[in-house]
Amino acid sequence: MPMIRETIVTTANAAGDLHIAPLGLIRDDGGWIIAPFHPSRTLDNLRSVPFAVANYTDDVRVFAGCLTGRNDWPTVASEAVPVRRLAETLAHAELAVSRIVEHPERPRFQCRIVHRAAHRGFEGFNRAQAAVIEAAILSSRLHMLPREKVEREIAYLAIAVNKTAGSAEQEAWEWLMAKIEAYYADAERAKK
Ligand SMILES: Cc1cc2nc3c(=O)[nH]c(=O)nc-3n(C[C@H](O)[C@H](O)[C@H](O)COP(=O)(O)O)c2cc1C
Repeated sequence: MPMIRETIVTTANAAGDLHIAPLGLIRDDGGWIIAPFHPSRTLDNLRSVPFAVANYTDDVRVFAGCLTGRNDWPTVASEAVPVRRLAETLAHAELAVSRIVEHPERPRFQCRIVHRAAHRGFEGFNRAQAAVIEAAILSSRLHMLPREKVEREIAYLAIAVNKTAGSAEQEAWEWLMAKIEAYYADAERAKK
């Protein structure tokens, strides 16, 4: 199995508009593969501006925020690519697309690292952060997953959040729970 890192990927379109999205980067011989499902803005952007930044952040509000309409996170210019990066990260890597492996549903953009920098130290694992990332992934797949599975997994993840969350993790969790509740409330209304 390939090793995957959950990061915040920034990309830009030809007009320079920035897009911020959580994506799992697949490790590839010292570089990374970005594999966005079709259709997505990340995919369109990578085709027109073949650069990206992998933003390594432990602020899980960015993950939950991007999935709940909160996309306005502070950014700064990058060193070596024409795509801005998140201002607040532990580290980041600036990426240039070196090859595209086409696929109708999920093309793969092989990227080499052209610049990397560390900004803050890693301060240990936090279970609530991991739980928020899992809940964020669940919340992006509600249309594909049985409701019973989603509710069972959320109930389990909530244990780590209740035991170990700081205020950022708590806030991120609440955004995701509101999204999931709204999704099922809409589904119930549509049935009536
Ligand atoms: C932790 C995490 C990892 C994700 N990884 C991927 C991925 O590898 N590919 C993908 O297409 N979507 C992934 N998603 C879902 C995207 O973030 C989401 O669908 C996003 O809106 C992509 O579409 P966009 O580029 O149009 O914003 C992930 C979501 C989360 C929370």
